[in-house]
Amino acid sequence: MKIAIASDHGGFALKEEMKKYYEKQGIVLNDLGTHSEESCDYPLIAKKMTDAILQKKTDLGILICGTGIGISIAANRVKGIRAAILYNADVARLAKEHNNANIAVFGGRTQTPQEAIKFFEIFKNAKFEGGRHERRIGELDDMGV
Ligand code: RB5
Repeated sequence: MKIAIASDHGGFALKEEMKKYYEKQGIVLNDLGTHSEESCDYPLIAKKMTDAILQKKTDLGILICGTGIGISIAANRVKGIRAAILYNADVARLAKEHNNANIAVFGGRTQTPQEAIKFFEIFKNAKFEGGRHERRIGELDDMGV
């Protein structure tokens, strides 16, 4: 499974921690930036990730900004993108089982690396249930998002 990660400056430190953790597990996360704590704009970072997902350069994405809010709003404006802020274990599982989210979102200033890694693991290992949820996801696409 290919996994890409990206953040603005508010999520940079958490991005680096997550990369380090996965590298130790032998998993390289494809880093789409940003590459320093210098201020940058989260919509432009979200666009890099949504392009990578839609062009099938990655299977899953991780997006991080200060709170997770701005970058998820930006990503969810793109048709075919389902970005979910994972804030507890049940939500992490349901974001995949019910919403088939393709991007996991975290807040670099609101969540610890331990929380983010735990919730991403649950999300990554969960399976989309399909059925009625497939129809609802189709309805999202009909709305243009
Ligand atoms: C940047 O200061 C901050 O506004 C951004 O990371 C994010 O939290 C926006 O939602």
